[in-house]
Amino acid sequence: MNKEEVKKRITDLSEQIRRHNYNYYILSQPAISDFEFDMMLEELIRLEKEFPEFMEPDSPSQHVGGDITRKFRQVRHKYPMLSLSNTYSEEEVRDFETKIQKLISEKIEYVCELKFDGVAIGITYKNGILAQAVTRGDGIQGDDVTTNVRTIHNIPLRLHGTGYPMEFEIRGEIILPHKSFERLNDMRLEEGEEPFANPRNAASGSLKMQDSREVAKRRLDCLLYYILGDNLPFKTHYESLAAAKSWGFNTSNYIAKCENISEIFEFINTWNSARYELPFNIDGVVIKVNSLRQQEILGYTAKSPRWAIAYKFKAEQASTKLISIDFQVGRTGAVTPVANLAPVQLAGTTVKRATLHNADVLAALDLRSGDRVLVEKGGEIIPKIIGVDLQQRIPDARPLEFIKQCPECGTPLIRNEGEAVFYCPNESGCPPQIKGKLGHFISRKAMDMDSLGYEKIELLYDKGLIKDIADLYDLTADQLLGLGKVYAATEDKKEKKISFREKTVENILKGIEKSKSIGFERVLYAIGIRYVGETVAKKLADHFSSIDKLMSANFDELKEAEEIGDKIAQSIIKFFRDQKNIEIIRRLEEKGLQFEMHEGQKNLKSEKLKGMVFVASGAFEHFSRDGIKKTIEDHGGKNASSVSSKTTYLLAGENTGPEKLKRAKSLGIPLISESDFQKLIM
Ligand code: IVH
Repeated sequence: MNKEEVKKRITDLSEQIRRHNYNYYILSQPAISDFEFDMMLEELIRLEKEFPEFMEPDSPSQHVGGDITRKFRQVRHKYPMLSLSNTYSEEEVRDFETKIQKLISEKIEYVCELKFDGVAIGITYKNGILAQAVTRGDGIQGDDVTTNVRTIHNIPLRLHGTGYPMEFEIRGEIILPHKSFERLNDMRLEEGEEPFANPRNAASGSLKMQDSREVAKRRLDCLLYYILGDNLPFKTHYESLAAAKSWGFNTSNYIAKCENISEIFEFINTWNSARYELPFNIDGVVIKVNSLRQQEILGYTAKSPRWAIAYKFKAEQASTKLISIDFQVGRTGAVTPVANLAPVQLAGTTVKRATLHNADVLAALDLRSGDRVLVEKGGEIIPKIIGVDLQQRIPDARPLEFIKQCPECGTPLIRNEGEAVFYCPNESGCPPQIKGKLGHFISRKAMDMDSLGYEKIELLYDKGLIKDIADLYDLTADQLLGLGKVYAATEDKKEKKISFREKTVENILKGIEKSKSIGFERVLYAIGIRYVGETVAKKLADHFSSIDKLMSANFDELKEAEEIGDKIAQSIIKFFRDQKNIEIIRRLEEKGLQFEMHEGQKNLKSEKLKGMVFVASGAFEHFSRDGIKKTIEDHGGKNASSVSSKTTYLLAGENTGPEKLKRAKSLGIPLISESDFQKLIM
């Protein structure tokens, strides 16, 4: 293809992909197979990579992610992001209606909608193109999460149809549907990470991730419910939603126009019971005055519009019998009490277990075996016990106390001052903790042994083939071949078989071998020092450059490293004081793992800026100031604070310092814009 043809192909592909996205996500009527779609997208991404000059700024390839946000820029909302007045009381919904009727003595029509339980977002479109997406923050200013929002498939990057205002903001809720939530939590467990408590937390955590490619993988959705702008071409809220739908936005299918309070309650009652049939969480119903003129007359209080109210559903409760309490030891050694209950129907599922969180919660409830308890299911997956019916307590029933010893290894439990959680301190000898460490070690962000997964690790541990992370490097094909296990189906999980066939074993051993070349900072993260996450591990690796230097650092020296505070420093010292850990590290060293930083291995993403010296000045659209400096270093370049003859480029953002500009001009140092800079590193 010549350049003209490439350009045309990019335009054609973008157009087709946009259309298929719309068919799939908005109309729910896919016209081609997933495979065909993926092929088109892949081709587009390949061409754009090769010919970045032809990439459209709103290319649908952005749904796949790729850009990194180091620090989320704070942005002031053009229209403050108000909330709604909330109520749990039917009486207050009636009052709302009467008050409005009093203020406006005309016929009033209402629109009832679902209240989505997610994260509020405001998305601005300019000339039909997604320009910016900002979280609520404090309502006055929020975080610019545009890059991450662009990865959400049912948010259009370019609008469909016609008639949209040149500039407007649309607000909605970013949610994680049940399916995506379960998938995400399964993956997290598999990777040795804590699962999210509920889809809302997961959605909000996802939006604040630095790597948009990771955000794309989480399969967030967005439901839009409110348009703001000057001189909008609508008379009613209902109309505005219909228009939004025609422009390619995902608006709710469950909206009703209501003429009176009984119709409003009909909507509320229907959804109060049908809510569990939805593929995502809602926590109530929103009632809005339909006419925009009437909305304007009613206006706002300081916090919320007078033309709308949210009726929140009460968390569902059920009463059942407490049978016993189990104590579960997590991968970090934390011990959680879990109640076994007589099965009871609650919020669309049969509940048999409920969390009791920790010793304080257990003590406060003062439970006895055989008690009748009240269980509640809020937004969380695991229900909780919120009270006991003392009337029905069997006299002399035995109090249920927190255990003193680890149920897995017998070690006496400890509790740190000021903390509610009991821990088993036997980090290197307690089975769930060892499995947790192993699971973390092999996880993607650590040693990335993707053919091994948590279940295989568990099996190898149970068979006595591995007792610590260093044992992984002694595994042989003979030991692995033919191993297997079947996990029987449970209520919420299908049957699962794991088996070590020839090809699997080959891949596992390859993965183990390959991990020997993984850089020091990831090894440091992988060995599982408490509080040393990915970022901290990088900082430590950069600062100390070898495990020996890190090991011999004292408390004060540790704290000299960037981002290392008392808690982390103490944890590092404690880790290296344990001879068992030292021994494991020595064995890993012998196996050839990387325990020091090599020059050139300093985390470089590329060497595209090698030999270049930049002076970054002013504000940037896609980077914070620190972020752009880090990016320069990540690609092998250097930063300087003032312009000199050694400067390669003055990287000029908005409001670049006039002195710098003057000096660059007099020395003949070229200026480079943010977008040209981005092209340099593409
Ligand atoms: S309308 C001026 N409609 O609930 C207020 N909000 O507790 C415009 N929410 O701030 C908001 N579903 O984040 C509206 N159908 C819906 C909603 C909804 C969920 C959220 C939104 C709002 C909060 C209020």
